[in-house]
Amino acid sequence: MTNLIRSARCRYNVDTGVPRKWESSSDRCQQTKVSLRSVYRKPTECRWLRLNTRLNLSKALAVDRHYGSSEFPGHAPADIYLTRSVAPLSPDLAWETECLLLKIFEYGDYSFRSALLGRYSETLTCTFALARHRNALIGAAGCLHSRVDPTVAILGPVGVAREYRRNGIGAQLVHSIVDYLKKQGCMAVYLGVSRTNPAVRLYEAAGFRRYQGIVMRLLLSCKKEFWNQYFDADPNSAIRRIAWGDFPAVQALSTWPGVMYTVDLSRGIFSSRYCEPKRFLSVFPSMMQTFAAAGGFANALVAGERRTIVGFAKVQRMPAQIQCHVAELDLFVHDNFLAKAMELTQTTIRQCEALSIKRVCSACLSCDDVKREILERIGGRHVATLPGQVLLDGEYHDLLTYQMDLAPSKERGEIKNASSSDDDAITGLWGVRS
Ligand SMILES: CC(C)(COP(=O)(O)OP(=O)(O)OC[C@H]1O[C@@H](n2cnc3c(N)ncnc32)[C@H](O)[C@@H]1OP(=O)(O)O)[C@@H](O)C(=O)NCCC(=O)NCCS
Repeated sequence: MTNLIRSARCRYNVDTGVPRKWESSSDRCQQTKVSLRSVYRKPTECRWLRLNTRLNLSKALAVDRHYGSSEFPGHAPADIYLTRSVAPLSPDLAWETECLLLKIFEYGDYSFRSALLGRYSETLTCTFALARHRNALIGAAGCLHSRVDPTVAILGPVGVAREYRRNGIGAQLVHSIVDYLKKQGCMAVYLGVSRTNPAVRLYEAAGFRRYQGIVMRLLLSCKKEFWNQYFDADPNSAIRRIAWGDFPAVQALSTWPGVMYTVDLSRGIFSSRYCEPKRFLSVFPSMMQTFAAAGGFANALVAGERRTIVGFAKVQRMPAQIQCHVAELDLFVHDNFLAKAMELTQTTIRQCEALSIKRVCSACLSCDDVKREILERIGGRHVATLPGQVLLDGEYHDLLTYQMDLAPSKERGEIKNASSSDDDAITGLWGVRS
């Protein structure tokens, strides 16, 4: 980041406020119509955009009732820099960004600090656009995409300090991120925002459209092209372990309205054609964190030239030590690849055997014929029916629970648990590349 700042300073003379290579475009911000002392358009290769803006904060006071506070000063001049860090942020900048985001959001089970510090950076790129005023961070927008395949990306979180809202900063941050993702070759950007959040208007102005439940999506290529390329039925599929870089692809897949249901009773996450997703950004991280804490793993079914994720199966051990031989299995496969669902399940079950898991439990809805057939074909015993557990589309559905007792594994002594450190052992045993 320091290098980035230095190089930006010597090339664009940020200290004096006169970026030599930039052209003046207009004296009004296009998003908010706020008068700007000078506005500069970003040249294609430039990483920085500087706005010397006189922020009209009385406008924020008058309009932003949702987040309103009486502590705002009347007017304040602001120097706003939008920048992004493709490499992990420095610990100081990561901390500053986290502090700003913590003031704006109440995090549930996921903190962005790990991503900001590059903890997942082997496979996942976490990029931030930051806005500064007099050296203080006042706004941030983040995005995540896989290092290997940036076709789908996630936008979020996006936050601007209260006293600077309604000045076009949020819109600038979002545009900056979308520009960046376009250059990376991204075809679809997903985000989660509740319908009542005023930020919806900001996202709509940037081109996002309501997709499913709380999920909005921006297509950067034409819809047909995206689906044709992304979920093209391809007979050459493979199974590999899920990594952090799969975050956007798994999220995109789980919001796709397929015929199968993923059921996660403890977190209240359901994914299906008839059920609107109510959580978004925290779903994948909470799955990965559960694996790290209690043991477990997930496999991805990949297909097509891009090795797109078209299905996944996850196995989560019971958290109690006395039950660590029992695991919960769940899976979701895209409609075009249902024929591969059986193979995905069998491979996952074989891996469970190698990890000393003796019993696998799985739940499926009475209306989910696909999953029921898979569970029965792999030898699952239907052990209980919980009547009327799930209300979908105005109808109550039973929840069926299945159990499979696994054969003891010869290698059991060598592999003790299913934490991520056992990846190599699993790869070796089953020939599955992670
Ligand atoms: C959402 C947020 C980032 C917007 O930042 P911002 O700098 O105020 O946004 P902008 O000034 O660029 O607003 C762009 C447009 O969004 C809409 N908008 C933003 N905030 C709004 C509000 N409180 N009420 C109504 N419309 C709003 C307006 O259409 C606005 O355009 P306009 O000012 O020309 O009318 C900011 O309000 C925030 O940090 N909110 C809390 C965190 C949050 O909810 N983030 C989104 C979660 S995904």
